[in-house]
Amino acid sequence: MDPDKVRKLQQMGLGPVWQRRGLSVDESGSGSAATALTGSASAEGAAHAASVTSMDWATLEETIRTCNRCDLCQGRTHAVPGVGDRKARWLFVGEGPGHQEDMQGEPFIGPAGKLLENMLHALGLARGANAYIANIVKCRPVGADGRDRPPTADEVAACMPYLERQIDLIQPGVIVALGQTAAVALLGLPTKTSLASLREEVHDRADIPLIATYHPAYLLREPTEKAKSWQDLCLAMSLVNGR
Ligand code: URA
Repeated sequence: MDPDKVRKLQQMGLGPVWQRRGLSVDESGSGSAATALTGSASAEGAAHAASVTSMDWATLEETIRTCNRCDLCQGRTHAVPGVGDRKARWLFVGEGPGHQEDMQGEPFIGPAGKLLENMLHALGLARGANAYIANIVKCRPVGADGRDRPPTADEVAACMPYLERQIDLIQPGVIVALGQTAAVALLGLPTKTSLASLREEVHDRADIPLIATYHPAYLLREPTEKAKSWQDLCLAMSLVNGR
């Protein structure tokens, strides 16, 4: 992060928490979001990831929609690349599409999406106005029981180049990680890292500040945590305004 940004954060009493970007391997040894880009990835996977780094929006979205780099493609109705303002200062990142998102090809349109929209409005944002919404994985992870499940480390690794490219194209002023899965994947941390240990800090993700907060689906189950989530969003707001 450049010294001017660090100075501004320090003036706000918000020293950035430095994270190595995308180099960690999770504690179980099964790999992390970043492994597709490290030596353990196949040469073909690395070549694909490299090709994604130069894609324009149209090519990127078409590549996501036709992707078959992990098994999630087999059950999908639609891949869900993301939606919103491609010049947004705010990037919100969730875990992965659910049933309704899979049916319609747009992120956060179910009940959790309604709450996210309320959060955006409270910040003076909207889906297409200064906010872009994406997910860690672009196809719905669904368990054998037919219910949504978190993506596996391999699924995250296969999909991460797409989100990396979206971040590079958007160049947001802040990234808000919605939930533990998004936060650990974006920060390249061990998969068991708790969300509690990541909240209330400014993380540095390749020179872009990142705030970790609760997933809207969790807030629907635990509405008393909404106040804490609002604190997180206010912290994010201070960063956008400070840049
Ligand atoms: N939950 C997510 O994490 N993403 C969506 O798009 C919908 C629900």
